[in-house]
Amino acid sequence: MDSKAADGPRRLGVWFVGVKGAVATTAIAGARLIARGLAASTGLVTESAPLEGLDLCALESMHFGGHDIRGISMVDAALEVARENGSIGKDSILSIAGDLREIDQNVRRGTSINCGESICGISDDERGRNEPRTLPDIARAIREDIEGFRTRLGLDGVVVVNLASTEPALLRHPSHASAAGLEDLIAKDQRSAVRASTLYAQVALDLGCPWINFTPSNAGLLPGHVELAKSRGVPLAGNDGKTGETLVKSALAPMFAYRALKVLTWHGYNILGDRDGQVLAHKDNKAAKVATKDGVLEQILGYQPQTHVAIEYARSLADLKTAWDFIHFEGFLGYRMSLQFTWQGCDSILAAPLVIDLVRLAELAKRRGESGLLEHLACFFKQPAAGDSHNLHEQFQALVRYAERLRGGRAAPEI
Ligand SMILES: NC(=O)c1ccc[n+]([C@@H]2O[C@H](COP(=O)([O-])OP(=O)(O)OC[C@H]3O[C@@H](n4cnc5c(N)ncnc54)[C@H](O)[C@@H]3O)[C@@H](O)[C@H]2O)c1
Repeated sequence: MDSKAADGPRRLGVWFVGVKGAVATTAIAGARLIARGLAASTGLVTESAPLEGLDLCALESMHFGGHDIRGISMVDAALEVARENGSIGKDSILSIAGDLREIDQNVRRGTSINCGESICGISDDERGRNEPRTLPDIARAIREDIEGFRTRLGLDGVVVVNLASTEPALLRHPSHASAAGLEDLIAKDQRSAVRASTLYAQVALDLGCPWINFTPSNAGLLPGHVELAKSRGVPLAGNDGKTGETLVKSALAPMFAYRALKVLTWHGYNILGDRDGQVLAHKDNKAAKVATKDGVLEQILGYQPQTHVAIEYARSLADLKTAWDFIHFEGFLGYRMSLQFTWQGCDSILAAPLVIDLVRLAELAKRRGESGLLEHLACFFKQPAAGDSHNLHEQFQALVRYAERLRGGRAAPEI
């Protein structure tokens, strides 16, 4: 879905599914504030020394739009984040209110088909609970929304990112294995075999838009999607942004392996209070998230210690997700010791810059003719769909090597 690049800077469309959520709103506000010189780029990996010199899209050339299932305006969505989480200042939001109002023109109502009661419950129209359209009709509407965005704004390309609420896990269906199978499921309106994210991914890839599944929703990056991406020459990446407890886990667990210390038990207890936490409080949606958080240790350590991952809703914490991890381990002569850490991070402040990084790197990959799963982006995900390591150090080195290759072998500056 690329138009011929005109002279002058590239105009990149960024289409967020879940555009009114905390992460999307923070990513948009952050990109606009940095572009206007009103905020620093702290937290953006693409602005750090190891990725210096890459031909990435400028933040001021990004144009935002997206789908949501709630009708509030972008200004109100951002003010909601300011009120609930305090992570973006009210004055900052008012300084970009004009930009946010323009983005409202590029926001369309999405679908929550087969997304379960927890997600349908946050939709503010009847269509959320009782989607009357067939799958081909919904897919057609999504296509028109994204194509209309590109044409209206004269964009050179569009990257689509899934930032919608975590869906309940989708049971695997034989048709998920191929692009033709997925197409057939949609054509035959087999609603129970897809969720909303399956449709968003299918349309984005079919249109030639790079697709990033930042959520744990397993319906949003199926083997058939990978096949479709390859056949359309489009890159894709996922699953589930690595921003908090799992980030720390994937940095710390290698230390035990490097020192031949045996991890006996690793228990993690997460509490969070925003809408994401509310959705995850539902057992089906929670199971999908636990699955992406729990696979890390065995791959890094080479064995499975006793593990437990708990996620609980604590309303008063809002976006300030808190994780307490207890690690019991054994050293020389069988002596047992322990390590505990407490992580208190603002979820959307940690996630938003990664989303911008992923958009820029996916757009670059598309321009370079890369297609299929992007292995060098594994460090951004809890459950990387490509790359065989969960070790943050190895994953980051893969990204650094990619940047070096693109710079023609020139090493990254020391960090
Ligand atoms: N650190 C992080 O915040 C982090 C890290 C990794 C993954 N994630 C994932 O990112 C997603 C977004 O997190 P958030 O904190 O912004 O949540 P949020 O609840 O604030 O935002 C989700 C938005 O998606 C919308 N939505 C839900 N279903 C939709 C659908 N089918 N179509 C279109 N819009 C839909 C909701 O109305 C809401 O505006 C979640 O799945 C979360 O698990 C977040």
